[in-house]
Amino acid sequence: MPDHMPDHMPDRILDALAYPVVLSPMAGGAGTARLCAAVSEAGGLGFLAAGYKTGEAMAAEIEQVREATSRPFGVNLFVPGEPADPEVVDAYAAELAPEAERYGVGLPDVPLDDDDEWDAKIDLLLRRPVPVVSFTFGCPGVSLVDRLHEVGTAVVVTVTDPGEAVAAVSARADALCVQGPEAGAHRGSFVPRKPYGAAEPGLLDLLAAVRKAVRAPLIAAGGIGDGAAAAAAREAGAAAVQLGTAFLLTPESGANPVHRAALRDPRFTSTTVTTAFSGRPARGLTNRFILDHPDAPVGYPAVHHLTTPIRRAAVAQGDPGGVNLWAGTAWRLAGERPAADVVREIGAAIA
Ligand SMILES: Cc1cc2nc3c(=O)[nH]c(=O)nc-3n(C[C@H](O)[C@H](O)[C@H](O)COP(=O)(O)O)c2cc1C
Repeated sequence: MPDHMPDHMPDRILDALAYPVVLSPMAGGAGTARLCAAVSEAGGLGFLAAGYKTGEAMAAEIEQVREATSRPFGVNLFVPGEPADPEVVDAYAAELAPEAERYGVGLPDVPLDDDDEWDAKIDLLLRRPVPVVSFTFGCPGVSLVDRLHEVGTAVVVTVTDPGEAVAAVSARADALCVQGPEAGAHRGSFVPRKPYGAAEPGLLDLLAAVRKAVRAPLIAAGGIGDGAAAAAAREAGAAAVQLGTAFLLTPESGANPVHRAALRDPRFTSTTVTTAFSGRPARGLTNRFILDHPDAPVGYPAVHHLTTPIRRAAVAQGDPGGVNLWAGTAWRLAGERPAADVVREIGAAIA
């Protein structure tokens, strides 16, 4: 068992929270500086999503949060992976041609090798450090983790199995975000895998397995929608809980109107893990697009770029059938109330 026991800042950040409630970073529009600041101000740990943004846009959001709160918050980065296979992407583009026609858009030429401005973002975060940086879709190298520690930043790595947890602790991560398969949006596994079967262990079993493999503070994520679920995660050994879907209907969220309406629409009765929108397994409300593309490939982020015009047009046309409606399994518990209320309700159950 790796025995790196973090003893500096990160523990203190989690311990110093009035409520051990972490806002999921939410790339793609739902996560906003306002939401991040509201969660931190309420005594939780707010997060900004840097994914899909330019380094400049990330830096601007960080300044907005700093203006709104002096409390700790985090910034989340996507770790770049292997480039997509061009043949796979071309074949899926052919499959999507009728979708493009349906929404009156063209399919773009997509970059196969997009690193999401990784270097620029790292550079900015080292020059003007933030309290916490978290990583998903992979594990940062030890030297990067060390450099972040040197500037006083705590490092969190998202893991989805015990092997990833061991790797993250070996890379000197201070805390792990343990993401169960119930989670809304993308699975943060180090390597994109095809959608999982029903037999995959749920969050509580995963927490137990990760606890057995490593000693590090764990932040539990995935399908936590109320105090009871948060308490169960704490009981299973989590130091804090991380929620995304529970914040999607708050006034501070940037979720688009089509997404918001769908989350409240009783005609949506389930969630599905799909690669159809982005080429990486992600959980969303089961809609037409997911059902029409059951064999969509793994090919992130090329597929994400490929479907962007379709998704944008679907939102503009008010059609929930053609856009990703990311949601975790507990989406029905999400309510329209201020983010601070969510932090307090969840926090009161576990503080
Ligand atoms: C709309 C949405 C966008 C998300 N974007 C990110 C992201 O940019 N980075 C990340 O690490 N996790 C992201 N996640 C996943 C969360 O970190 C977390 O695992 C998930 O919200 C937990 O499940 P829950 O949504 O059921 O609470 C996102 C989740 C949602 C719902």
